[in-house]
Amino acid sequence: MRRLVFLGPPGAGKGTQAVLLAREQKLAHLSTGDMLRAAVAAQTPLGQEADGYIRAGRLVPDELVLRILKDRLRQPDAASGFVLDGFPRNRSQAEALERISPVDAVVSFEIPNEILVQRLSARRICPKCQSVYNVESRPPRIPGRCDLDGSELVQRPDDLPEAVATRLDVYAKATAPLLDYYRERSLLRPVNARGTPEEVALQIRALVHGTP
Ligand code: AP5
Ligand code: MG
Repeated sequence: MRRLVFLGPPGAGKGTQAVLLAREQKLAHLSTGDMLRAAVAAQTPLGQEADGYIRAGRLVPDELVLRILKDRLRQPDAASGFVLDGFPRNRSQAEALERISPVDAVVSFEIPNEILVQRLSARRICPKCQSVYNVESRPPRIPGRCDLDGSELVQRPDDLPEAVATRLDVYAKATAPLLDYYRERSLLRPVNARGTPEEVALQIRALVHGTP
C-alpha cells in the first residue's frame, strides 16, 4: 500500500506517524497543515489568506487547500507513493481527492478527546525545521531547544486552548463524517492511537504490509 490517507483528530499523532512511515517506506509526506504553515511563514498571498483561519482553528477554504495540494502532488517524489496527513477534512475535499488520485487505505487514528487536549497543550515545535516535540512524551534533549538545530522551541498558535476547542468541534462536525464515507468504500483501517508512538507505528506497519 503506497497511497495512504491518515485521518484523525488534532493531536492524534498523524504527523508523528507520517514522518516515521514516509522515511521507512520512502513515501512523500504530504501534510496540508505543514504546507499552509510554510506559506504563512513565507508570507505568500495564499499564506496571508490562510493565516486567520489557522489561528482560529477553522478550516482554510477548500479552494486554497486544493491549490497547494495539487502543486505538491505534481512534484516527482509523490509519484511513487504518499501519506496524506490532514487531507481530506470534509466531504467536498474527499470528492476532490477521488478526482485527483486513487488511495489504497485510510488509516483512522482512534483516541479519546481528553488525551488529545493533553498532547496538544504539551506540544512544542521547532520554527526552523518543523520538528515536533512534546514536553511530556517526547522532550528535547536540552529543555526548550531543538535537538537538530538548537532553535528555541515554540507553541503552535492553534494549540492554545480556545483554538483547540474549535479544532475539536470542526473535526467532529466536518471531518468525522468521512469515517463513514471511507467505511462504505471499504478503505477504512482503524488503529488504536492511544499507545506509545512505537506501538502505534507497529499497527500501521502491519496494515501497510497486509499482516494481521
Ligand atoms: P494540521 O496541521 O493538519 O493539524 P491537525 O489535524 O489539527 O493535527 P495536528 O498536527 O495538531 O496533530 P497530529 O495528529 O499531526 O499530531 P502530532 O503527531 O503532531 O492543521 C492545522 C490547521 O491547518 C487546521 O486547523 C486548518 O486551519 C488548516 N488545515 C490543514 N489542513 C487543512 C485542510 N485539508 N483543509 C482545510 N484546512 C486545513 O502529535 C501531537 C503531539 O503529541 C506532539 O507533541 C507529539 O510529540 C505527541 N505525540 C504523538 N504521538 C504520540 C503518542 N503515541 N503518545 C504520546 N504523545 C504523542
Ligand atoms: Mg500534524
